[in-house]
Amino acid sequence: MGTNVTPPDSRHRSSKVLRAVVAGALGVAGTVAALTLPAGPVGAAESTLAAAAAQSGRYFGTAIAAGKLGDSQYTSIANREFNMVTAENEMKIDATEPNRGQFNFTNGDRVYNWAVQNGKRVRGHTLAWYSQQPGWMQSLSGSSLRQAMIDHINGVVNHYKGKIYAWDVVNEAFADGNSGGRRDSNLQRTGNDWIEVAFRTARAADPAAKLCYNDYNIDNWSWAKTQGVYNMVRDFKSRGVPIDCVGLQSHFNSQSPYNSNYRTTISSFAALGVDVQITELDIQGGSAQTYASVVNDCLAVARCTGITVWGVRDSDSWLGANTSPLLFDSSGNKKAAYTSVLNALNNASPNPTPTATPTVTPTVTPTSGGGGTGQIRGVGSGRCVDVPNSSTTDGTQVQIYDCHTNANQQWTLTSSGEFQVYGNKCLDAAGTGNGVKVQIYSCWGGDNQKWRVNSNGTITGVQSGLCLDAANNGSGNGTLLQMYSCHGGNNQRWTWTG
Ligand code: G3I
Repeated sequence: MGTNVTPPDSRHRSSKVLRAVVAGALGVAGTVAALTLPAGPVGAAESTLAAAAAQSGRYFGTAIAAGKLGDSQYTSIANREFNMVTAENEMKIDATEPNRGQFNFTNGDRVYNWAVQNGKRVRGHTLAWYSQQPGWMQSLSGSSLRQAMIDHINGVVNHYKGKIYAWDVVNEAFADGNSGGRRDSNLQRTGNDWIEVAFRTARAADPAAKLCYNDYNIDNWSWAKTQGVYNMVRDFKSRGVPIDCVGLQSHFNSQSPYNSNYRTTISSFAALGVDVQITELDIQGGSAQTYASVVNDCLAVARCTGITVWGVRDSDSWLGANTSPLLFDSSGNKKAAYTSVLNALNNASPNPTPTATPTVTPTVTPTSGGGGTGQIRGVGSGRCVDVPNSSTTDGTQVQIYDCHTNANQQWTLTSSGEFQVYGNKCLDAAGTGNGVKVQIYSCWGGDNQKWRVNSNGTITGVQSGLCLDAANNGSGNGTLLQMYSCHGGNNQRWTWTG
């Protein structure tokens, strides 16, 4: 049998994640820790934003403009540093439905394809918004506009079904100032329930995507607008309106400066039972200290799952290069703000709390409800998921190998979605990012040990939404398994014989 080879550069990251899993296991068992978990980071610092953020299970993203994908400096920085992508304008209403009922995904797909081909996940932005509506929509009102909004959400979400990490379902629906109420818009005038209708429509169209409410000037906890959005999210959660996350755009400037209560804002939203994502970060003036504070505030809250900056270089910013709002200067050089962000991410402690995923059925229907025991056979390789050398050691990365009937290829799918081997070890995703290893680990009930066997043959991790993947499209004995963005290729499809 092949041996378990873990790439050296992923070792310290895996050890951090492992500590997180151990911490979770101890917490679940209610055990007083005989094992002391060292505080703070372990191992060498990572050298890119994405890798540094991944150490605590978070992503670090950027807005990408389709028109700049031919700029090699832009794409090389973006590819190197970021692992989440938001289309800056290309998935908006005017771009995707320029004429009623006629959808155009040319530029949205360019951004999407660039991201996925480079191993990145994608945030969808945005489905329902008072701005950037095509002319035909601007002139609608009442039930006609309401129906157009529903049709638009269905058309766009369906096109990207199963491919989007999180959708900004509704963007900027609250008013600035002291009212704490809704912004006037043609959508608002269709009835106050337009936001929940948008969320319900999006959930039905793609049950696997996280659904976010996204806004600016909701960063300062003491502001009425923040409280207005908070009350809406609390109301939605109490009534079962499907919402999974809140996007804090976090465009900071002198009129809307960073405030030290930002951490309270993040933790307060998280306490409602939603993820928080920093979705469009830029800071006019580019203060390295403020950038570090923003990152540290996110890192302090388990459900703050990732940070996206709104552009790559200062020259790419909607604010203009002279405001110096981003992490790279207009020549592509790393700024002081970049270094402070990287250092903050590298100093993060591993996050012991798994993030929640939507409690809904997956994109593709699970075919197995549990109870069976059998092999997990790769469609591309014909080989079976195998624990190397019949190891029982926690942390052993699994591989594919010629199928046989020994215990190290016998997997029992439990009713809670675990794949158990040897009766007490579980198939375990060592994190939530692309490329994290899939290993065996003592079963402890975490979402990183739960899986969905889908009707299209993919097996998705409940925590990450990523797919069980034979690395590098490998098919030979000893090919290691990892988690990777779902694309449904033969190295991600499996036959479950249980
Ligand atoms: O591409 C055309 C160009 O051909 C034309 O000559 C030029 C003339 O004005 O316009 C160009 O399009 C502009 C587009 O950005 C691409 O640069 C639009 O006019 C301009 O309105 C558009 O601005 C975008 C803005 O949203 C529109 O509301 C910004 O790029 C984009 O960064 C910004 O992003 C928003 C988020 O979606 C929501 N939160 C706030 C954030 C910043 O405003």
